[in-house]
Amino acid sequence: MKFFADTAEIADIRELAETGLLDGVTTNPSLIAKSGRDFMEVTKEICAIVDGPVSAEVVALDHETMMKEADVLRRLADNVCIKVPLTIDGLKTCKALTDDGTMVNVTLCFSANQALLAAKAGATFVSPFVGRHDDNGFDGMELIEDIRLIYDNYDYETQILVASVRHVTHVLESAKIGADVMTAPPKVIKSLFNHVLTDKGIEGFLKDWEATGQSILR
Ligand code: E4P
Repeated sequence: MKFFADTAEIADIRELAETGLLDGVTTNPSLIAKSGRDFMEVTKEICAIVDGPVSAEVVALDHETMMKEADVLRRLADNVCIKVPLTIDGLKTCKALTDDGTMVNVTLCFSANQALLAAKAGATFVSPFVGRHDDNGFDGMELIEDIRLIYDNYDYETQILVASVRHVTHVLESAKIGADVMTAPPKVIKSLFNHVLTDKGIEGFLKDWEATGQSILR
């Protein structure tokens, strides 16, 4: 499963990229606003740090303006992935862009039928929002299971990008279901490394090692 960071914070992206485990980045208008940075400038900077897809979202609601915005965004770098909302105009834009060889992430997906439409529109990625789904009394992971089943039934190549990830269990369940990608805030990605028994094990080994009086680097 690929790991994308859901953030526009450069320091966090750099730190995760240095682990060699980061496959891409997703941003949205709220994350750009939170960063306080210029959209074009920060997107270009992120694209230079990571080799994989960097999702940059259009804000227009009509197809014609979405295409114009996508045109500006895709000129920023080769790894820009245009993010469009799951609407009729969004999917029209998705079809036009993917037919033209541009990566597209169809965002704000909340039903398996919507994911089916995104695949038919040739989306590179579809982003079902599991956290927001859970918040509203639905089962986010059940949605991922349904999309996986439908995509496998028809061999759709659209990648399932689990979004709105809130905790490590979302990551684990996504991997068990066979989602292609998950995007999570840096804090959640970093917490994947943690286990109390790992810390306890290191502590015990170091205590015993100190008692030997040896050192590896002489
Ligand atoms: C995905 O691409 C979105 O940016 C993101 O995952 C939304 O997450 P949120 O529900 O935590 O805002």
